[in-house]
Amino acid sequence: MEIIKYGNPILRKKAKSINKIDKSIRDLIVDMFDIMHNSTPKGVGLAAPQIGLPIQLIVIETEPNKQLSLINPEIIESKGKDTALEGCLSIPGVWGNVIRAKKIKVRGINPNNSKKIILEAEGILARAIQHEVDHLNGILFTDYIEKIEDLCVDEGFVIPEKLRLYYKERK
Ligand code: CO
Repeated sequence: MEIIKYGNPILRKKAKSINKIDKSIRDLIVDMFDIMHNSTPKGVGLAAPQIGLPIQLIVIETEPNKQLSLINPEIIESKGKDTALEGCLSIPGVWGNVIRAKKIKVRGINPNNSKKIILEAEGILARAIQHEVDHLNGILFTDYIEKIEDLCVDEGFVIPEKLRLYYKERK
């Protein structure tokens, strides 16, 4: 499995909700964490559409071994504002400041026991959840960034051609 990169229309599709949680979903979650661990630069979250599956599943690991996976996640409360640098495995090596809610409440299904859960999150975890839930709605972090000049790029990486074009057309 490979991570789908910026410009692929799959990333812009609205993901479908999951109504059957079986072994194949749990295996997929394990694979998604593996993909995340093996990527360069390392990611803290991955959404199923990023591996070509338009289904509502996200995985997050903001701290080593502190794994969170959520099915059909929905943000039901947002409080405050916070700005921080954000990146995405579908746009590797490219970073930009994004304003997000500081604290959130998210509702979803825990794939480990198939039970509904409501989680409260803040800081980097809240940011990661908002970023991944955006993926399920076809939104990428660069959509929030107005100018190409506001992006920073790691050495050895480039801004994808389609993203350059997007900013050119916005002018
Ligand atoms: Co992303």
